Amino acid sequence: MAKKIVSNLDVKGKKVLIRVDFNVPMKNGVITDDTRVRAALPTIKYVIDNHGKAIVFSHLGRVKEEADIAKNDIAPVAKRLEELIGKPVKFVNATRGKELEDAAASLAEGEILMFQNTRYEDFDVAANKEVKKESKNDAELGAYWASLGDVFVNDAFGTAHRAAASNVGIAANVKETAAGFLLEKEIKYVGGAVDNPVRPFVAILGGSKVSDKIGVIESLLDKADKVLIGGAMMFTFLKAMGKNIGSSRCEDDKLDLANELLAKANGKLVLPVDAVCNTAFEDVKGTVKSVDEFANDDMGLDIGPKSLELFAHELAGAKTVVWNGPMGVFEMKNYAAGTIGVCELLANLNDANTIIGGGDSAAAAESLGYADKMSHISTGGGASLEYLEGKALPGITCVDEL
Ligand code: 3PG
Repeated sequence: MAKKIVSNLDVKGKKVLIRVDFNVPMKNGVITDDTRVRAALPTIKYVIDNHGKAIVFSHLGRVKEEADIAKNDIAPVAKRLEELIGKPVKFVNATRGKELEDAAASLAEGEILMFQNTRYEDFDVAANKEVKKESKNDAELGAYWASLGDVFVNDAFGTAHRAAASNVGIAANVKETAAGFLLEKEIKYVGGAVDNPVRPFVAILGGSKVSDKIGVIESLLDKADKVLIGGAMMFTFLKAMGKNIGSSRCEDDKLDLANELLAKANGKLVLPVDAVCNTAFEDVKGTVKSVDEFANDDMGLDIGPKSLELFAHELAGAKTVVWNGPMGVFEMKNYAAGTIGVCELLANLNDANTIIGGGDSAAAAESLGYADKMSHISTGGGASLEYLEGKALPGITCVDEL
């Protein structure tokens, strides 16, 4: 069933609580990537342009001890929102209390209010202990935040795998909950790929550990027509198949699991046939070797050109492609070719939905300049993985059906 979207709400004159995911990377209080703030702009703009009163909030980092409070002050993100949206953002440096309640009550149509990091509620300063009220969905907290507004819009896909007071807690205490435009897009592309893909559907999975991706591999082996494997996790599979992987990274305790997945795959799992190797983990030119000719000191750090040809063959004609996890150590220029090659293959597919499932592969596509060539780059890390695993995400479940 379709979810209610912010554009289905009558927001005029209403205080609209908008949960966003502004958990952005910061260095010394400076935002190093504002993609998530930009991604939330259409929803916030829609609310204020339609005479709603926007009350915006998010978590930032994790607040487990007192030192985490100053470290995770969300005020610089409110400033960035103000710059990007080109309108004043009233910032309240609190997550509850009279100042916040008065600011919410006196908000005028078209105005924006943002309050402090919702995870400040995870630490009780007076008792000097972690209480996790936000993260464990404390009932009083969800009801309190709900009391500040009239309707609730969840646009925080990155947090949708967490049942927190600021998403499901609020939803349980308001009359209407809708998805923001970003959440709508994530449901359409990531959810659509898993639930209703246009075929052929090819998944590309990389990254270093099989153990991080077991759920996703199992789910996609079920749903996709082919699953292409790259990244260091290829070596756990290759070793399980009896190949000498030299000194490449491998999870020896996952060899049985790799064998089980290979058996279950029924030919759907496609492994690289060559790799770029070196004898040390250094950014120096490597040697391309077939996966059948590794020496004991060879360490595979990227997929090789023949593997890219194989992947191109498997991707030809694909109508839905989901990619999660880089093909090699793309941060080092000598081992970036495999990840760049996959970006190019996806960018050149005709008439296909190309979806990047967040995390490192999203960072790779962005830093390598391919972001605008993809149909959708998910803003979720853990949330995308769980969604691709086919799990119900509480932050989506809590949104009303249309
Ligand atoms: C993310 O960055 O993946 C989300 O914002 C969730 O953050 P969390 O893992 O700290 O809950």
